[in-house]
Amino acid sequence: GQAAHGHPRAGTQEWAAGHGKVILLGEHAVVYGRHAIAAPLPLAIRARVEDARDGTTLLIPRWGIEQRLQQPARPGSFLQSLTLLLERLGLSQRALHIQVAPEMPRAMGLGGSAALAVAVIRALDRHCALGLDDASVCALAFECEKIAHGTPSGVDNTVATHGQALLYRRGEPATIRPLALKQPLPLVIGLSGSESLTARMVARVRQAWLQHPARYERIFDEIDVLTRHALDALEAHDLGELGELMNICQGQLNALQVSSPEIEELVQLAREHGALGAKLTGGGGGGAVIALCPDNGARVARAMRDAGYQALEVCFG
Ligand code: MEV
Repeated sequence: GQAAHGHPRAGTQEWAAGHGKVILLGEHAVVYGRHAIAAPLPLAIRARVEDARDGTTLLIPRWGIEQRLQQPARPGSFLQSLTLLLERLGLSQRALHIQVAPEMPRAMGLGGSAALAVAVIRALDRHCALGLDDASVCALAFECEKIAHGTPSGVDNTVATHGQALLYRRGEPATIRPLALKQPLPLVIGLSGSESLTARMVARVRQAWLQHPARYERIFDEIDVLTRHALDALEAHDLGELGELMNICQGQLNALQVSSPEIEELVQLAREHGALGAKLTGGGGGGAVIALCPDNGARVARAMRDAGYQALEVCFG
């Protein structure tokens, strides 16, 4: 809807939005220059900035976070990103009250850190009339992502900024091709219940790649082939083929050792209950699974819930 695209809605005129995302195919390989296909979640993180009397504070009531900027920032935390943002935007001397309302769960591999960064940057831009364009918002959010996960590809902050399904490839400049989905893409998102360890998983893949570059380059190439076939399948709205490619991609992600027992259980449940394909999405090590369910979405979601997981039925496009 309108609100999901960052337009004001009743009662939230001053709230700026950053979009969550799912990666359909290509996570991890995208860090090494291969393609990824990502789509924005209809869930966003919203932020609002007001002037304060003394000092800058960050308030995320739904996540139980209330922090003052003077507190020493944990490395990799959003407070550390915020300090960098305020510096870059020339706002270090201002006293600001930053309020954040997330519509999505935290640390579930759904792009929450990038969505948070984009929402806060846009809210600062609005409140302080900085005149930032999308490219600057995206670039600043990328700096925050570097703090959050070390060597990000840039796909999360790109989708968080543009709120549009896209094919992404990193580079100078990055390739960003918007995708017009012919028909909506019905997915069930299963939440493993354990935090997605994106930073740790990205670091572990890097370690393995440094030790055996040729071996891992081959896996990334294989994922890239799947991603490019998935693009054709999406364009033809061939969901059977897309599901098959997702299943094979899960095998490759497993080869990268970024899966987990909960992810494997969710994937199996989804396939057994009629999903055309299922795989982890995002960094892995926990986090979320996506299942392609044109017919059996409710059944797949119920099976996940019966097994003790949370599940969301979401239509993309
Ligand atoms: C995280 O959503 C996707 C990864 O490929 C990391 C990245 O692209 O920065 C795992």
